[in-house]
Amino acid sequence: MKKFRVALVGLGTVGSGVYKILTHKAGLVKRRAGIAVELAAACDQDRRAFRRLTVPKKQTVLQYKKLLADSQIDCIVELIGGKGVARTLILDALKKGKDVVTANKALLAEHGDELFAAAKKYGRQIYFEASVGGGIPIIKTLRESLVGNRITSIFSIINGTANYILSKMTAEKMGFHDALRLAQEKGYAEADPTFDVEGTDSAHKIAIMAQLAFEKRFSLKDIPCNGISRIQPCDIAFADEVGYVIKLLAIAKQTKEGVEVRVQPTLLHKDHILANVHGSFNAVHVHGDETGDMLLYGRGAGSRPTASAVVSDIVDLAKETHSAVPRLPYPLFEPIAPKKLINIKSRYYLRFSAIDKPGVLATIATALGRESISISDVMQRERQAGKVVPVVVLTHEAHEKDLWHAIRRIDRFATIKEKTQVLRIEE
Ligand code: HSE
Repeated sequence: MKKFRVALVGLGTVGSGVYKILTHKAGLVKRRAGIAVELAAACDQDRRAFRRLTVPKKQTVLQYKKLLADSQIDCIVELIGGKGVARTLILDALKKGKDVVTANKALLAEHGDELFAAAKKYGRQIYFEASVGGGIPIIKTLRESLVGNRITSIFSIINGTANYILSKMTAEKMGFHDALRLAQEKGYAEADPTFDVEGTDSAHKIAIMAQLAFEKRFSLKDIPCNGISRIQPCDIAFADEVGYVIKLLAIAKQTKEGVEVRVQPTLLHKDHILANVHGSFNAVHVHGDETGDMLLYGRGAGSRPTASAVVSDIVDLAKETHSAVPRLPYPLFEPIAPKKLINIKSRYYLRFSAIDKPGVLATIATALGRESISISDVMQRERQAGKVVPVVVLTHEAHEKDLWHAIRRIDRFATIKEKTQVLRIEE
């Protein structure tokens, strides 16, 4: 009887979830794949992982190289993360004629062109649903479900840890570090949580989504990326007063002058659908020229949702290998630079750390006016004569270039005591 034989490499959070689905739901998987999916081997350097999952001895493998030599294995599932061993493992697996499933967004965002070229060369596939949005089927949606569309924009909350932290800071007034610790305890955060809070993880994910949506390859180094570590409780409070929440957004949008791709903490009106995505949830808002607005919402992190995405790739490969289901084209695209940040237009939230004395606001307004930046709102809540207080200005739409001319000038004023906080507002 034909089987599709799979080897799992890495039995951490996601690997454990995949192991459980493939063992506990073997019948369901077989029915849906039309062929038995056999878990031929589970590989981890740490024997405790085998004990935790009670992996039968005949399935346990300590060194992944043994799997590559096994010609019976059809598919390697890479869940070790990182860009070193994982890259070698995937390249070697393809060379040995095996398909690959991976959740490794950092590796795909940085070395995707090399890996997909190797897949093409050896006539194998790399599937990567779990690399973006955990259990949300955004990769399949972009590659298959929306093929009849030109995508015009993607606005996404794609890092569960950052969204969890901002949600806790907003709803419970929790401090940044306490919220981060909780997110780590819940298993949402990356091994190095700076990837979550500084926006790098979101940049990896938007790089992958943007290339599928716009059929161009965007280099990570060209994607402007700001995280949430400089967001103060007072920013959240000021935003709240004027009807906004702060969210870490990963954005890719088509404009007349090119595609904008960036990661930024953003003020969103409370009525915006993404403003209502709380906790560790992710959401991807896609606009297609045929579908119009569309939202995918769900758990973007954690063992079971991410394992669900990995299993969907395994089942797709099993179907394709053993029936006439055609394979997807390789996601190999021409490189292109996204539009430079300096050329974008936006509304802005500006928080100045200004000495509280008459005339300071007028100098700020004059500097903004000189660059044709129009003010839509001004807030100063504290009164501490002669001391530093936050002064918040919201602007109408302005050119980023003009904005930074003004900010650089204002930050040199003797009455301004810290670097001004600049956040973009998306409508
Ligand atoms: N650290 C990621 C997050 C996990 O918080 O969303 C999934 O990529």
